[in-house]
Amino acid sequence: MQAAKRPEHAVTEQIDSALFREPLEFIFADHYRQRVVCNTLEAIVSDPSHGREEEDIRAIIDYLEHDLPLHVADEEESLFPLLLQRCEPVDNIGEVLAILGDEHDKDQALTAAVKQGLTALLEHRDEDDLEACFRNTLAFVETQRRHLAWENGIVLPLARKRLGSADLIDLGRAMATRRGQSLPD
Ligand SMILES: [Fe+2]
Ligand SMILES: [Fe+2]
Repeated sequence: MQAAKRPEHAVTEQIDSALFREPLEFIFADHYRQRVVCNTLEAIVSDPSHGREEEDIRAIIDYLEHDLPLHVADEEESLFPLLLQRCEPVDNIGEVLAILGDEHDKDQALTAAVKQGLTALLEHRDEDDLEACFRNTLAFVETQRRHLAWENGIVLPLARKRLGSADLIDLGRAMATRRGQSLPD
């Protein structure tokens, strides 16, 4: 199998906390990191014998354990409820958010398999079900990419249209608080 091209950007690149002032841009930046994680996972799974870059693997495990749950909470607990309040019936946002919420739940199940496969690679173990972990990893990558397309293509443009400046300050503050920070001046 031909190895996928390795992404050039570090998986661990953190988002500038100044973006809590522009929370939709923060979320967009988080989506970019999610895409980097997907590209890196695809490269690792496509060529696991060559792809044991421990730094990448540890960074992705850390991302899956800490950063992704924070991002999902930003959406489920802060952005989506705000959108439900502010959107017009014509936006049909309820249906879209229900699908995305359901995908967040399913992703959580796949995440466990992804971490299991990565941990086995890190420990140079041949797990009996490594193939199954890799299949689940590719399924995770595929659903993440579809999910990102919906969020970048539908949810964020609607949020830019419907949320007011007070909403954005509230959203940014909630996201900063979730990370133990305060809204920057
Ligand atoms: Fe997202
Ligand atoms: Fe999401």
